[in-house]
Amino acid sequence: EGPNPVVLEKQFFGMSAYFWFEGIPFPAMLYKREIIKESRDKFVIRDEDTVIVTYPKSGTNWLIEIVCLIQTKGNPKWIQSVPTWERSPWIETKKELSMLINMEGPRLMSSHLPFHLFPKSFFRSKAKVIYVIRNPRDVLVSGYFFGRNTNLIDNPESLGTYIERFLKGNVPYGSWFEHTRDWLSMRKNDNFLLLSYEDMKEVTICDFLGKKLEPDELDLVLKYSSFQAMKENKMYNFSIIRKDVNINGLVLMRKGVPGDWKNHFTVAQAENFDKVFQEKMAETSVLLEDLS
Ligand code: A3P
Repeated sequence: EGPNPVVLEKQFFGMSAYFWFEGIPFPAMLYKREIIKESRDKFVIRDEDTVIVTYPKSGTNWLIEIVCLIQTKGNPKWIQSVPTWERSPWIETKKELSMLINMEGPRLMSSHLPFHLFPKSFFRSKAKVIYVIRNPRDVLVSGYFFGRNTNLIDNPESLGTYIERFLKGNVPYGSWFEHTRDWLSMRKNDNFLLLSYEDMKEVTICDFLGKKLEPDELDLVLKYSSFQAMKENKMYNFSIIRKDVNINGLVLMRKGVPGDWKNHFTVAQAENFDKVFQEKMAETSVLLEDLS
């Protein structure tokens, strides 16, 4: 049970694609141990900040786009001229952490960090966190195709292999179950908003952020954050990102629908997944059916 560095190392044919920090595997190409540590122990989150937190492939970039558009009342100029990672820098990467440290005013930032590695300063602040939860079977399928189409992580040879790893937490950022369970412990707090990919509600986000938008402004938010609009937005589609990572727009904007897992899981794989879900999520009120 749980992440096993030795097994993982073998699966990588000798390549050390991950390093481990407090039980969590991080892709070594993007992250550094000392930065993860610095963001947890030293980075100061301020009361006026908003943080978008997700387990990877849960709709992070979609939410970033929506929140940015809410800030500009639907005007697309900002999202069409500034890359996503400058509008909402990542807490856990080197360049963006230093960008954040020097940024003034209320900051918007993103993070995939699990609860126990999140900046400690947040828990003493009034800063807001928006957490997106997505059907983990879709998260898995999205991550599988992402993995196959980039050189960020090792290339899972089959969906079956990837399902096994996912259930054990041997994937970037560790176990979906632990990530979700731990973050859900915040759900009663006023500065925490829980959203689901399957039911993304712009009005709820406006209320949480204290923004009042007119109906026509909200229509613009919807229009410019649609799957198609984001696919066409060069500031999102990563055609401008580092070439060595081999990410292309197609991989990030893959299908954008709930329930694609049904096209990929066998009946036995779905049953096994559900069994593990029931075991691991028993103490939460999250039901798979609510995320479909
Ligand atoms: P799929 O691979 O299932 O298509 P993240 O931003 O956390 O990496 O999540 C990526 C997933 O969100 C991908 O899922 C992607 O297609 C989906 N996505 C991105 N923008 C979207 C949008 N505007 N509407 C719906 N889904 C979107």
